[in-house]
Amino acid sequence: MANTVLIGAQWGDEGKGKIIDVLTEETDWVVRYQGGNNAGHTVEIGSEKYVLHLIPSGMMHDGKKNVIGNGMVIDPVALVKELQGLEARGCNAAGRFFISDRAHMVLPFHKLLDECRESKPTEGEKIGTTKRGIGPTYGDKAARVGLRMGDLLDPLFPQLLKKRVEESNRVLAALGAPQVDGEKLLVEYSAAAKVLAPYITDVLPLLYGATQRKEKILFEGAQGTLLDIDFGTYPFVTSSSTTAGGACTGTGVPPHRIDRVIGVVKAYATRVGEGPFTTELKDEMGERIRKAGNEYGATTGRPRRCGWFDAVVAHYAKMINGIDYWAMTKLDVLDDVETIRICVAYECDGKRYESVPANVRILERCKPVYEDVPGWRAPTKNATKFADLPTLAQSYVRKLAKITGVPVGILSVGPKRASTMRFDQKPGELITG
Ligand code: IMP
Repeated sequence: MANTVLIGAQWGDEGKGKIIDVLTEETDWVVRYQGGNNAGHTVEIGSEKYVLHLIPSGMMHDGKKNVIGNGMVIDPVALVKELQGLEARGCNAAGRFFISDRAHMVLPFHKLLDECRESKPTEGEKIGTTKRGIGPTYGDKAARVGLRMGDLLDPLFPQLLKKRVEESNRVLAALGAPQVDGEKLLVEYSAAAKVLAPYITDVLPLLYGATQRKEKILFEGAQGTLLDIDFGTYPFVTSSSTTAGGACTGTGVPPHRIDRVIGVVKAYATRVGEGPFTTELKDEMGERIRKAGNEYGATTGRPRRCGWFDAVVAHYAKMINGIDYWAMTKLDVLDDVETIRICVAYECDGKRYESVPANVRILERCKPVYEDVPGWRAPTKNATKFADLPTLAQSYVRKLAKITGVPVGILSVGPKRASTMRFDQKPGELITG
């Protein structure tokens, strides 16, 4: 097993940063392939906590190479800030950080447009975005008018930027939004270009060379399957391909070079922003989970909506991503819960759904069909092997493996690296139902 895609199987915030951090030990390259600084991957190393938005999590591991793939959208000023923040903490990026010259650039008018759409939505149209300009940047990419990271280094950049600013200012004026100062923007982005120039390159030959030499690549997904532009709860989604296929289109590494897909799921569910969430708990239990799991957004600080594990979503994610095994996180958050519910199907207008319906208006009206299991009411955080877990906690994990038809290969019971059990290192050890 060499090249691994790691994706979120719910609505993001599954704890991918921590799992990536654990797996980075076994890889040579960490590659991000979609999204931008809407993501926030939290990693705790020793007593230090890092929140990364654009830079792959492998950067904190000496010697590992890190790539920002063509499928990402980059705010150059935010990237410089993040890079300098890491360097101030002793991290050296030279020779091991590469930014695809094909990745699209987030510009201030993308953020203004994002804000404008979010602040004046018509009824039911607010997405609850991170306001980082993600949607409008991908929109310009699809409309073939975007600027890319390679353009930052082109002597024609001032002219290219001027054209985009003029056109975008006309759109902003029509929407009653503030104008962008093109001169100021050029100064800011030219300064960012100076810092980023050593890292911007054609990463395709680099990754091709890595696959030829059989070096290991870890593809770090951001957000989650239910936020995918095609398969998510459209229109309440992000604007990129968050599913496993995105790893190929977002880097240029072909599908037959992918050896395994790991799906990260929480032992319950959360969602930030608007959109359907069938197992949402709007009661005291939701509040208890939010508190126990510290469920507040790493990027925006927004409280996350909390709910029970949704096996319909997990099964759907399995079909799309071809998940080999789960990395299940935050089991410890359920330590105090008396009765735990698992959603095994949806019902709407007398019809039973075992997959997520495409029509968001149907999905919004779906009611969960639950199976209840007893909670274990005991701490799990000190467990270092599966047998250390309370019997009822073991049963819960096995039940999720059985219902979803996917074994559990990694189980996390706390934020630290040490609170991670591995069942994926020797054949026959995966936890099945
Ligand atoms: P955008 O990606 O900022 O356009 O936001 C679109 C939707 O995706 C909103 O519901 C956001 O809350 C959600 N979203 C974007 N990034 C993340 C993430 O990293 N974790 C969880 N939700 C996210």
